[in-house]
Amino acid sequence: MARFLETAIDIAREAGALLAHHFERGIAWELKGDYDLVTAADRASEHLVVNHLKNHFPTHSVLGEEGGLQESSSEYIWYVDPLDGTTNFAHGYPAFNVTMGLERAGEMIAGVIFDPIHQEMFAAELGGGAYLNGRRIHVSKQPTLETALLATGFPSRKRHENVNVHFFHQASMVTHGLRRSGSAAIDLSCVACGRLEGFWEFGLSPWDMAAGLLLVREAGGRTSDMVGAPADVRGPHLVTTNGLIHDELIGLFGEVFQGRYRYPMPPVIPVR
Ligand code: IPD
Ligand code: CA
Ligand code: CA
Repeated sequence: MARFLETAIDIAREAGALLAHHFERGIAWELKGDYDLVTAADRASEHLVVNHLKNHFPTHSVLGEEGGLQESSSEYIWYVDPLDGTTNFAHGYPAFNVTMGLERAGEMIAGVIFDPIHQEMFAAELGGGAYLNGRRIHVSKQPTLETALLATGFPSRKRHENVNVHFFHQASMVTHGLRRSGSAAIDLSCVACGRLEGFWEFGLSPWDMAAGLLLVREAGGRTSDMVGAPADVRGPHLVTTNGLIHDELIGLFGEVFQGRYRYPMPPVIPVR
């Protein structure tokens, strides 16, 4: 299995250098939905990653965000996000990465997330632990929501259907605060290395979370859906935490699902 991870690390480093090069030069964006951006860098990075994966592992399936589906009957499938954080990238905001995760027969077995601006390579292998630039990482030991820093995200697609603002409001009232980086993979890597106690989002795609799911688990954290059932890389929502605050967070979310708000949204009073 080590061969898979080492190869993914090499490919992520090369794709990360390509992204950083485009980022420094500044790059035009296009729309692929009402608000969903894509750039030439997304496509160039996916081309590079998918070609390398196919050369190294010709029998594996590869599912890339920008259309790169190469299907086979193999039990191995790579989920590839060639540029996670495209909106940040397109605006010159330095929070993005390239990430890929490998699933074997329905189980995540290897994953990498590389942030080329901060030169941070997160890597994990099933049963082998989670690492940042070669050093072992662990989730934080904060025991309660009250002392937690959390993150969440809001997808560009179908944003009018997204109910997350309700969860955002309640969680922001009972924690040290919330962050919204614009990159799900960065948020997941931050949970894995203890910078954040938890992260959740509705409407993620498999390539956003494949590597991060494994990273959090291998760092000692917990992953589930928004109601506490086992996390599914193809599932519609995700919660990851340091494990210690998981039940408390799921409990808070349960109240929101039932319309019971500890803190009602404050009324907006017109200012003059
Ligand atoms: C997006 C980012 C963002 C998250 C969205 C994702 P992209 O990925 O991870 O943080 O909120 O759900 O789609 O489009 O930049 O690869
Ligand atoms: Ca993404
Ligand atoms: Ca992407």
